[in-house]
Amino acid sequence: MKNVTISTLARMKRDGEKIAMLTCYDAGFVPALEQAGVDVLLVGDSLGMVVQGHSSTLPVTLDHMVYHTACVARARGRAFLIADMPFMSYAEPGQALATAARLMKEGGAHMVKLEGGESQLHTVKSLSGQGVPVCAHLGLQPQSVHRLGGYRVQGADGDSAEAMRKDALALQAAGAQMLVLECVPAELAREISGRLCIPVIGIGAGRDCDGQVLVLYDVLGLTPRMPRFAKDFLKGRGSIAEAAAAYVNDVRRGAFPEAEQVLR
Ligand code: KIV
Repeated sequence: MKNVTISTLARMKRDGEKIAMLTCYDAGFVPALEQAGVDVLLVGDSLGMVVQGHSSTLPVTLDHMVYHTACVARARGRAFLIADMPFMSYAEPGQALATAARLMKEGGAHMVKLEGGESQLHTVKSLSGQGVPVCAHLGLQPQSVHRLGGYRVQGADGDSAEAMRKDALALQAAGAQMLVLECVPAELAREISGRLCIPVIGIGAGRDCDGQVLVLYDVLGLTPRMPRFAKDFLKGRGSIAEAAAAYVNDVRRGAFPEAEQVLR
């Protein structure tokens, strides 16, 4: 099987082929996820919650992200590898360049992900101008949980929906090559996915995005309080490989998320 690149993902969007993405934080899970056909591995800063046991992603450091990204990169065969830039590691463009350099040079990431809209346009421009592929992240931005007042659906009213549409288009124009939409009403996510030429990957954003992402520990039923938009794919199956394959299969045929996982 050929390596997945950003061109593969762009082609999948054009052809209407759904992209299956999962988080991954260590080498051990990589073979099962790749054999299941996962296209994109995301070393998410959600590792702060599911691996490190924190109540938010804020304590995650750049050293942690480089370490976990390198663990995944060592085992990676064909999947595209994205690493999150952790909280306060991209507060201005110069710092963002230094962060991305470490994640790509030491960690082996193919792309970096950052949270935010208008306030990040300058940084996205600067990163992509220096050849750093950027995935943007709108909707619920976990690094801003204390500003948002909790983990809630975003873009549910007219003004915030309009701001998200504008941010999405502006991030694409600034050079972002991919976008994650988290906890966004399905209708808004469908509209944004239709308007952008870059792949839009949803988590709690309905089934009409160009692909889906979930936290691996949710997919394996390890999370004590399962988010409403997630699903335990290991339930009723005998192995992690089977669970991952069921996730990929459901994403590919548009069967995940089901109605019960769609937020309104
Ligand atoms: O950190 C993470 O795992 C993420 C996904 C939830 C998209 O950003």
